[in-house]
Amino acid sequence: MTGPVDRDEGVRRPIPVLEVRGVSKVFRSGGSFGAQHMVTAVKDASFEIRPGEAFGLIGESGSGKSTLGRLLLRLEEPTAGQIMFMGTDIAHLTGVQLRRLRAGMQMVFQDPFNALNPSMTVRRALAEPLKIHRKLRGAALDAEIARLLDIVGLSASAQGRLPREFSGGQRQRICLARALALQPKLIVLDEPTSALDVSVQAQIINLLVDLKQQLNLTYIFISHDLSVIGQVCDRIGVMRRGELLEITSRDQFIVNPETEYARSLRDAVPEIGRPLPDFAAEKAA
Ligand SMILES: Nc1ncnc2c1ncn2[C@@H]1O[C@H](COP(=O)(O)OP(=O)(O)OP(=O)(O)O)[C@@H](O)[C@H]1O
Ligand SMILES: [Mg+2]
Repeated sequence: MTGPVDRDEGVRRPIPVLEVRGVSKVFRSGGSFGAQHMVTAVKDASFEIRPGEAFGLIGESGSGKSTLGRLLLRLEEPTAGQIMFMGTDIAHLTGVQLRRLRAGMQMVFQDPFNALNPSMTVRRALAEPLKIHRKLRGAALDAEIARLLDIVGLSASAQGRLPREFSGGQRQRICLARALALQPKLIVLDEPTSALDVSVQAQIINLLVDLKQQLNLTYIFISHDLSVIGQVCDRIGVMRRGELLEITSRDQFIVNPETEYARSLRDAVPEIGRPLPDFAAEKAA
């Protein structure tokens, strides 16, 4: 393994891509007549992500998954705690450094319809980050756009088209290509398939699994769909009411979750851990 290492335990281990220490987020919601109430969306969360890992964040609606994801990119400011990205505390980054952080940590959202600028062709959507962050021009730019479209399974002819000319699944492929354009160290996927038809969901999940293997990507995958998490993730963090209750390996989660709550989630999804239909069909053929 190349790249930065720490020697804290006398062993050469890669520095975590991300270290989250005691992070909390309290929202103050303004009620009528000045009445305010506080919502603790994330409560004292700590975890780390190692290079090449796929970390799944699960939990019921409102448990704080998206807020935690947004805190990592500094789309929200934490009320307490510390977030280190590639060994740097992100709290005080401004200007160029903050832009670099956001390039290094890409987020892919649930709704590919809103995530793309409707008046921008695919070529422009991909060319902009490549020009700004990677300074590509001319033939090198053309080649990289073609490569990105190819690895997400879109044809080169997609370049001249607008987002509305694509299906939901294809749009999510465009969003992925755009995220990959920046060669991010970490990709935060927030329910990336839940707005898609079930058959398309499986295709996108398979693509995510393939891309992770091909490019050694590091994911945080947010979902309340455990069967999806089971396909993609090596480790799983279980959230409930803002708290990160339990962090386990996927295999441990399947055979023996620690908490009662995690067990109830697992028991509700008997198919967790089974391969996707596409994989099964390929093997049977
Ligand atoms: N900007 C905000 N202002 C006030 N409260 C907020 C804000 N964003 C989130 N919350 C509250 O924080 C809590 C966690 O919300 P969050 O969106 O992180 O949950 P989630 O786990 O992503 O849910 P879902 O599965 O439905 O996407 C909820 O109670 C939500 O209402
Ligand atoms: Mg959410």
